[in-house]
Amino acid sequence: MPHNLFKELKNWFDEYVSGFQYPDREDQKQIDLKYHHSYRVLNEIRDLSKSLNLPRRQVTMAKIIGLFHDIGRFEQYDRYQTFSDARSLDHAELGVEIMVDNNLLSGLDEVDKDRIYRAIKYHNKIEIPEASFREDKTGLTYARLIRDADKLDIWNIFARHYSSNDDNNKLTHSLSPDGGITPEVYERMKKGEVIKYRTLKTRDDMKLMQMGWVYDLNFRASLARVKKRGYIDQIYRSMSSSPEADDIYQQIIDYLNHI
Ligand SMILES: [Fe+2]
Repeated sequence: MPHNLFKELKNWFDEYVSGFQYPDREDQKQIDLKYHHSYRVLNEIRDLSKSLNLPRRQVTMAKIIGLFHDIGRFEQYDRYQTFSDARSLDHAELGVEIMVDNNLLSGLDEVDKDRIYRAIKYHNKIEIPEASFREDKTGLTYARLIRDADKLDIWNIFARHYSSNDDNNKLTHSLSPDGGITPEVYERMKKGEVIKYRTLKTRDDMKLMQMGWVYDLNFRASLARVKKRGYIDQIYRSMSSSPEADDIYQQIIDYLNHI
């Protein structure tokens, strides 16, 4: 791997994002949010990789994936003024396209390029197609790491958002603040199933879905971080009180405590 590759990629990233400037403060805020999210995910994935004792070269690979996993977000917002993939396009696929078009990874061999592209491509999918990684344990580790690192920071963003009075509708994709939990979402959570964005009707549905992400974490180190930072409690406390919310909260706390 070229010595300065990560530094050069970081410079490219900053320069690229600085090209997205909007006169409207709300628009600019959305771009800034993703910019800072990218850097925090970079830190999360670096720390997780280190706690797994990955060799230095693999930590650098993971850092590239962390910084670039949402590179498609900026153009997505520019074209559609939303971060909802359902209402626009798949930002992960777009991100890989942008990286390929700009020939960003020309300093890497085909195996490493492919690992980075695949980790980014699958970071936002319902699940990793594990079978397609059978021949590549290292590639699978990257795909798992970025999903955990990304979730850790999304929890961070939402936990802060829910405990503040800031009414950023773009964060909740304009879901209804009322109506409590939709029965279908509750039933699925009860069975430990993954909830898709399009099933959500209310903000409480979204909060429940976010609490359920603990089931999708791949590493003990990630679970330990969720516990230590109290994300689940912060989300739960912001929900309207109901027996359904209590029930799922308890289920998730039990899961965290038995790991
Ligand atoms: Fe993403």
